[in-house]
Amino acid sequence: LPTAWLNGEFLPVQEARISPLDRGFLFGDAVYEVIPVYDGQPFRLDEHLARLENSLKAIRLSDAMGRQRWRDTLLELVERNGGGDQNVYLQVSRGTDKGREHGFPAEPIAPTCFAMSSPLPRPPAHLRSEGARAHLVEDLRWRRCDIKATTLLPNILAKQAAHEAGADEALLHRDGELIEGSSMTLFLVKDGVIHTPPQSSAILPGITRQVVLELAHELGISVQETALPLEQLEQADELWFSSSSREIMPVTRVDEQTIGEGRPGPVWARVQAALEASTR
Ligand code: PDD
Repeated sequence: LPTAWLNGEFLPVQEARISPLDRGFLFGDAVYEVIPVYDGQPFRLDEHLARLENSLKAIRLSDAMGRQRWRDTLLELVERNGGGDQNVYLQVSRGTDKGREHGFPAEPIAPTCFAMSSPLPRPPAHLRSEGARAHLVEDLRWRRCDIKATTLLPNILAKQAAHEAGADEALLHRDGELIEGSSMTLFLVKDGVIHTPPQSSAILPGITRQVVLELAHELGISVQETALPLEQLEQADELWFSSSSREIMPVTRVDEQTIGEGRPGPVWARVQAALEASTR
């Protein structure tokens, strides 16, 4: 049974109990992180914990744990689950109140801190050989998508719409621009240059995004952080999504439109290979 961690205690995940009065359950009043683990080592742990601190601050929730305690806790969680490759999930909610009041609790309450781990799935082989399919969906999310909040209804509805259209991921667009996937950062390659939307409150500051930008720099590939009008899909040579649990996923079709040559491209192959090298 996978071991989880809840408010200071390690226990089998099936035995973890949270009250229905928890504000994470009632309101989605919570933030989270997903951290890949390779060979027992959490990848870019400090960057994930720094982003968690930013999310907590943005929702005005005090950081009850602090970075060192999170580090120690997650390393022990990974060890108790047998090391190797894992996918760690952690969540902090504003805690369990006495009733259901939208505003913050009048008396300070303890946040609910939770972490669990599951096996890290390898990105499916057919997505690497043939590329993934994306489905365009209007971005209906709020204007603070830089906060990694558990309140994910628009993302879930977009992902489901993509699945029902026979696609692997939703490609969110808003005001005529391509934004990101429902759970992945977006990259577009044109004439050997990697383009990705600039960091703003419209997208999540992806950790994998940061790694891709660093690797591109090391490989001498130019990057432009710039808005991506919808029309650029037609001229794109390559399109990718990235996330902690999926690495870099080449996209070769967006609805009925073929991207580039319709095969995962050479720039993707170089950056993905460099990413794999840096995780091992
Ligand atoms: N999703 N954009 C969105 C909306 C995301 O939810 C995610 C991550 C990303 C990629 O961020 P990172 O490279 O830090 O994983 C971009 C996680 C994996 C999830 O919700 O499961």
